[in-house]
Amino acid sequence: MTPLLAAENLVKSFSVSTGWRNTKRFYAVDNVSLHVERGRTLAIVGESGCGKSTVGSMLLRLQDPDSGRILLDGAGVMTLDRDGLRRFRRRVQVVFQDPFASLDPRERIRDVLMRPMLLHQLCDKAEAPKRAAALMEAVGLSASQLDRFPHQFSGGQRQRIAIARALSVQPDVIICDEPVSALDVSVQAQVVNLLQDLQRDTGVALIFISHDLSVVRHLAHEVAVMYSGRVVEQGETKPLFERPSHPYTQALLAAAPTIEAPKRAPTLLSGEPPDPTDRTPGCRFAARCAYRTEQCLQEEPALMKIEGEHLAACFLAKTLPPVSNAVDVLSETPAAARIAAYRRARDGQTILPGEMQK
Ligand SMILES: Nc1ncnc2c1ncn2[C@@H]1O[C@H](COP(=O)(O)OP(=O)(O)OP(=O)(O)O)[C@@H](O)[C@H]1O
Ligand SMILES: [Mg+2]
Repeated sequence: MTPLLAAENLVKSFSVSTGWRNTKRFYAVDNVSLHVERGRTLAIVGESGCGKSTVGSMLLRLQDPDSGRILLDGAGVMTLDRDGLRRFRRRVQVVFQDPFASLDPRERIRDVLMRPMLLHQLCDKAEAPKRAAALMEAVGLSASQLDRFPHQFSGGQRQRIAIARALSVQPDVIICDEPVSALDVSVQAQVVNLLQDLQRDTGVALIFISHDLSVVRHLAHEVAVMYSGRVVEQGETKPLFERPSHPYTQALLAAAPTIEAPKRAPTLLSGEPPDPTDRTPGCRFAARCAYRTEQCLQEEPALMKIEGEHLAACFLAKTLPPVSNAVDVLSETPAAARIAAYRRARDGQTILPGEMQK
């Protein structure tokens, strides 16, 4: 089956100054391939600086890769003409982390929502206000708030507006770059649930860039784990969380906070990611890896099959000791508990006092 949106071997480097007249290439994204299907959610996870947003912005055609391809419904989108790019922009939308920065403070919400649909000629001027009102209801806000300005909403409400704006053009994919990270913890679960409900209702695909593994586990169908510009593990969420097979994924999961230890120290992840200008051979994770062998220092491991579609870029992936409690750890995290509580509350079930505030 042709994936809805796919990246093939994307490379993006930047030139960084290393002194007087000296520059080096800094590989922010190095040979990344991934894809998402209709109605599905692909999460991209990894430490700060590993290249997640750079991948997102290339998928949005906000910046061009040095090499590699982006395909929408199997058709290349690197050489689109103006009209083609306009159609692409309707089909691939974005929700950024900061709902304050992404909305024009001088624009009423009515115009925020109506402008894209008129621009893309999805309806006429008479029809647009009705659609804007329906979008407000769809994201849990009220049509009576359409004449307000962004500053008259809370952070969570603004993020709902950003989601409504993305939906206003009936996209096929929404790229969500840390969409809940700037929000209060109690609001995060509501917005995650909203995205999930909207996906169920509209079939929109989501690419969900996030640090929060418990949210990812809850929301994503597939996960790509990035490390230093590369995908080091990918697969369906359940097998990947049940059997994390790259030492980096294992460390990331072990470092995830729990209720008992909300800020658990990332003990397995000591040390820094490698210098991305350093192109010496070998596995990028080797310097921080407890299991490294001579081979890891000499050769870069490609993604290898663990089982089915589950892949990991580690020579030792199949022989590493299993991390048995990764799923248990994450199912108990505060965010996961809140999401479950909101879901039960929405479905009319009783929730325990304090459950939402965890
Ligand atoms: N325009 C640019 N010029 C130079 N370096 C850049 C540019 N854009 C990104 N980078 C660098 O590329 C690397 C990857 O950045 P990116 O924003 O994709 O990381 P990220 O995984 O999204 O991180 P975070 O979780 O902090 O958002 C970073 O080291 C960043 O400093
Ligand atoms: Mg980012």
